[in-house]
Amino acid sequence: MSDSEIKIFSNAEILAQSLARNFQHWMAQADNDKKLNLALSGGSTPQKIFKHLAENYHNLIDWTKLNLFWVDERCVPPDHADSNYGMTRKLLLEKVNIPPEQVFRMKGEAEPADEARRYEASISAHVPQQYNMPRFDWIWLGMGDDGHTASIFPDQLALFQAASFCEVAIHPVSKQKRITLTGKILNNAAKVSFLVTGNSKAEMIHTILNQPESREKFPAAHVNPSEGKLEWFLDQSAAANL
Ligand code: 6PG
Repeated sequence: MSDSEIKIFSNAEILAQSLARNFQHWMAQADNDKKLNLALSGGSTPQKIFKHLAENYHNLIDWTKLNLFWVDERCVPPDHADSNYGMTRKLLLEKVNIPPEQVFRMKGEAEPADEARRYEASISAHVPQQYNMPRFDWIWLGMGDDGHTASIFPDQLALFQAASFCEVAIHPVSKQKRITLTGKILNNAAKVSFLVTGNSKAEMIHTILNQPESREKFPAAHVNPSEGKLEWFLDQSAAANL
């Protein structure tokens, strides 16, 4: 894990406040004639951040400068309780003025392999290339206590090195199909931020950040943007074993 920056916050709320401030500054410094391309993860961790942005930054950010993508999606319809897009729409998108045509959701209701291809084409059409492939300006990732990230699970680690940058994955326990970005495009981003909270993640955070000899089998350990910045936003619970 080369020069990644580790930021530790007393709790998830303070972490959300700090990330929101970072996000506001990042949006403000962007050229007005440029759209910023951000890819979001789902799960529970981002929810506090989305709520904080919606409540406190809905009129402090020019949301029209943002193109929003997803890192992964469960293969369910957008109104399903498991939908990452559905969760983001409810907590954030319905409360800020991002133009709908700038929200690029993965269609969980579509046939998975077709959707992976469609989404890869959509990214290629809207995210400018650098280093021979689309380069996201920022990607927010979560991490499971099993060391997965996006929807790349340890039993499907080969997906991280897939030739295409959007693939179909399967949750190892629920067998739920997922659409997921893969390592090539994650590691081509200008900035990747892991957002990890809770003591259930502490052991895996220790393994990935402190144990180079045993982290290779976990997908989260392979996130390391070759020409970009990697940072870890952790609360004290998740950082307890560092
Ligand atoms: C998803 C996410 C996934 C998530 C981790 C952590 O679709 O579930 O993209 O990669 O980030 O599983 O999830 P929590 O934030 O719920 O712990």
